[in-house]
Amino acid sequence: MTDRIIIKDPFDMHIHFREGEMLDLVAPLSAETFSGGIIMPNLVPPVDNIERLDNYISEIDNAVKGYNFTPFMTIFFKKYSREFLELVKGKIRAIKLYPAGATTNSDEGIKEIEDAFDTLRIMEELGIPLLVHGETHGFVMDREQEFLGIYDHLATEFPKLMIVMEHITTAAAVELLDKNDNLFATVTLQHLCITLDDVIGGLMQPHNFCKPIAKRPEDKSALLNAALSAHPKLSFGSDSAPHPIDKKESAYCSAGCFTSPFALQYLADIFESNGKLDNLQRFVSDNAMINYNLSSNNKTVTLVRGEYTIPEKYGNVVPFNSGKKLNWKIEEVS
Ligand code: NCD
Ligand code: ZN
Repeated sequence: MTDRIIIKDPFDMHIHFREGEMLDLVAPLSAETFSGGIIMPNLVPPVDNIERLDNYISEIDNAVKGYNFTPFMTIFFKKYSREFLELVKGKIRAIKLYPAGATTNSDEGIKEIEDAFDTLRIMEELGIPLLVHGETHGFVMDREQEFLGIYDHLATEFPKLMIVMEHITTAAAVELLDKNDNLFATVTLQHLCITLDDVIGGLMQPHNFCKPIAKRPEDKSALLNAALSAHPKLSFGSDSAPHPIDKKESAYCSAGCFTSPFALQYLADIFESNGKLDNLQRFVSDNAMINYNLSSNNKTVTLVRGEYTIPEKYGNVVPFNSGKKLNWKIEEVS
């Protein structure tokens, strides 16, 4: 039995760092264990111009000072000119597209996918990847599945554009991955662990509520199989999305699960209990490095067998599965 694993350069390809005090609380918690991550632009107002981006970069740099961590920046998809995209290209890793109103702080997202085509064509030419929150405004359990046709359409229309289906939650999305060469995906920790039952099947659990909502047992199995086999087009993206406790434990509860500080320990548990610990390195690092063309920070995280309890709170944020005992803990980060 293995008692120690060393993960080289773990990457979190979908994180919400927020701004201000929340950023100062959560960014170091990611920066401690991860080598880098893609930072989401859904702030209020969104990150959609160079000045806002530059300010956000310096705020993040300040919050993660002293850690070996590379923030990969994104901007919020809008109709952008070629001049703007050429200018911003060197500062960002991707552009994130939200359908208007699909999730937290997405009101300024796009209303019709065709409106995005001119900008997508320029992104394709310039080699800027597109990250997508793929949900329609249909019935909540069907939103991702209904969006898959749009992914297929985009992938065919823009064959050289790298398109990432963010936080996939369905077996159908896993299947689509193999259909188009330019389609990739991220999956969260919570969607490998829970189904809709864990959100509303018993007493309602706001800390398991996120967008897209967790789906059926067969969806969870398909996601888990893809992650455990380190499907080469799938990367880990926690979608760690902190909200203050009063916004979660209330009517009109905000969507988002906070997982980044213990994601690696939790994943080690999941991979080990399924006999796939050898694939963890590919799932949390190698796939991302290859697909997003990332370079190594030469960071290593040593995990050892030993009890670790997920804290009840981080500041004013209650994490996903607080109080749960995990079988792996971090021994050293170097
Ligand atoms: C995210 C957030 O809070 O910013 N919420 C979530 O439920 N995942 C936004 C998002 O990625 O959808
Ligand atoms: Zn997100």
